[in-house]
Amino acid sequence: MMKSRETQDLNSITHLDFPKKAKNFNPLEPFLGVLGFILVTFLFIGCFFYFDYRAVHFRGVPWLGLVGGGSSPSLSAAPHAAVVQPPMVAVNVNGRTGFLDEGGDSCDVYDGNWVWDDDYPLYQSQDCPFVDDGFRCLENGRPDGFYTKWRWQPKGCDLPRFNARKMLEKLRNRRLAFIGDSIGRNQWESMLCMLASAIPNKKSIYEINGSPITKHKGFLVFRFEDYNCTIEYYRAPYLVVQGSSPRGSPKGVNMTLRLDRISWTHLMWKDADVLVFNTGHWWSYEKTVGHGCYFQEGTKVMMDMDILTAFRRSIETLMDFVVTRVNTNKTQVYFRSYAPVHFRGGTWKTGGHCHQLKLPDFGPLPNKTEKLVDIFSDVLSKQSIRMQVMNFMNVTPMTYRRQDGHTSLYHFGPGNGPGPLNHQDCSHWCLPGVPDSWNELLYVLFLKRESVRFTDKVQQNIL
Ligand SMILES: *[C@@H]1O[C@H](CO)[C@@H](O)[C@H](O)[C@H]1NC(C)=O
Ligand SMILES: *[C@@H]1O[C@H](CO)[C@@H](O)[C@H](O)[C@H]1NC(C)=O
Ligand SMILES: *[C@@H]1O[C@H](CO)[C@@H](O)[C@H](O)[C@H]1NC(C)=O
Ligand SMILES: *[C@@H]1O[C@H](CO)[C@@H](O)[C@H](O)[C@H]1NC(C)=O
Repeated sequence: MMKSRETQDLNSITHLDFPKKAKNFNPLEPFLGVLGFILVTFLFIGCFFYFDYRAVHFRGVPWLGLVGGGSSPSLSAAPHAAVVQPPMVAVNVNGRTGFLDEGGDSCDVYDGNWVWDDDYPLYQSQDCPFVDDGFRCLENGRPDGFYTKWRWQPKGCDLPRFNARKMLEKLRNRRLAFIGDSIGRNQWESMLCMLASAIPNKKSIYEINGSPITKHKGFLVFRFEDYNCTIEYYRAPYLVVQGSSPRGSPKGVNMTLRLDRISWTHLMWKDADVLVFNTGHWWSYEKTVGHGCYFQEGTKVMMDMDILTAFRRSIETLMDFVVTRVNTNKTQVYFRSYAPVHFRGGTWKTGGHCHQLKLPDFGPLPNKTEKLVDIFSDVLSKQSIRMQVMNFMNVTPMTYRRQDGHTSLYHFGPGNGPGPLNHQDCSHWCLPGVPDSWNELLYVLFLKRESVRFTDKVQQNIL
């Protein structure tokens, strides 16, 4: 069993809104409708392209290849047929503004669609030594590689293609740190692979203490020698301190979450140049009060506090910490929102599954929003300084559509084959896969901020 305990724990989630709606929802129905619409649209557009065949090679058009044959895509396509090309072309197909161009600021990059792109994925897991065995789905026997082929396309603008060299150059002599739970780790490993794709000598990328990537507690710091930059991960599933209960606590209190104290790991990451936080999956009854972990503020253990209130307090603590203790003139701060799970027909413990989902959900988004995301937005908007220093990456809706991207049966490590049907992981994500898209957004937001910073500096020098 290659699967970590943390991975198993994370899957026992019961309190989430999205998947409930998803249960009664046949993902293919809306998809077929949309497919029909797209087919008609592209046949129409295809007439135009017919006169200039070269145009078909533009990005965004490969739908023609997918649907033009008149049959739905074969779900058993060989995964390794996926070829990584090194295209550095700008994406502008439809005359949309580039997000990094002037006027791109007003674009809501979280509002968009998943589009098929033959140039994806950005890397192959077998070329990247920095992926946990549990995330190597194709190597672990997943037969379909479609989930690696979707690119996120905002409605209002185009994103530049991820350029690892450019990112590394910007990160030269700097530190990028991810702080959060194992979904944050998922994203961190994705970033390592995306950046490592530009470095032929993978030996020049190493954990500074020699710790293996399989270490699931504490922290891991990978250094890219050629750029003197580090890409770091700190495990802090609640972001606040979890510790033993104070002396004299009521009976049944085994541990507490100290809602007014940011994780002790802050001593290590506070001065990094880019911080990417996430939390959410561990704020469940089962993982807290259900096994004797209550909430504490000051020295007081609050036996009656509900989880959502506790979550709100912890986010307030995070915001206050960032505003008062992080030098946000230097450090860019991001919070990546909750990534929905997609268990059907049960939970992790009761045989919930997602392995049959091979395509994104193109249907409407659920009516209900995710409570944890609402709470985060609310706490964020309470003070304008918070909105200035904290970049809220609301990836929840886009990620909700990616029911096809989970590790499902394919998290038992290369050579072990698919796991049992009743033991699926519909929380974590295959790599390459969905977390790459979060990182592509992080990339453009980071570059945007950098250019603003640069402009400020130039202006200061002129004045
Ligand atoms: C390497 O990067 C660190 C920050 O991560 C910085 O403090 C240090 O000065 C850099 N070293 C050189 C030689 O630039
Ligand atoms: C507290 O911990 C003890 C020992 O680990 C365990 O036996 C007990 O069930 C726990 N209490 C609760 C409420 O889970
Ligand atoms: C950050 O920049 C502002 C404005 O340029 C300045 O007033 C403030 O002192 C700076 N803070 C730190 C910690 O350098
Ligand atoms: C969505 O929510 C609105 C307002 O709460 C309600 O009027 C509408 O019926 C809901 N739609 C569905 C499909 O549940």
